[in-house]
Amino acid sequence: MSKILVMHGPNLNMLGTREPEIYGSTTLADINSMLEAQAAEAGVDTEFFQSNYEGALIDRIQQAPGEGIDFIILNAGAFTHYSIALRDAIASVAVPVIEVHISNVHTREEFRHKSVIAPVVMGQILGFGTDSYAAAMYVAIRKLKG
Ligand code: DQA
Repeated sequence: MSKILVMHGPNLNMLGTREPEIYGSTTLADINSMLEAQAAEAGVDTEFFQSNYEGALIDRIQQAPGEGIDFIILNAGAFTHYSIALRDAIASVAVPVIEVHISNVHTREEFRHKSVIAPVVMGQILGFGTDSYAAAMYVAIRKLKG
């Protein structure tokens, strides 16, 4: 069975109470269970991982190929904008990655306009609230099912 790893970076464990005017009131647990159901309907397995630590996210990306992960959906949070180490980790594995953001980073502060991981991901989906994740899951399933 195909397996999709959904990864959430720093502060995304705070969804639900974190700046709800920007990120909404859906919790991370709600997002994960919605994605799990969406994937299960298509006969695809899911794993979920959240960390506030750059190194932990990098370790998980490095482990993905050995764990039979076929696709990664990644919201790297603020690391998106400056973590060359995360970018290098993505580039070091053959597993395709879809970059996700809840908010439209281009309408926000200028430091959020740049994604250092953008050149090494398959594509970006952003600005649709938690539906950004659902749209990424839709694409990942389509790619896996050919
Ligand atoms: C975010 C956007 C980032 O700029 C921010 O640091 C986050 C969340 C988003 O999902 O909109 O933590 O990735």
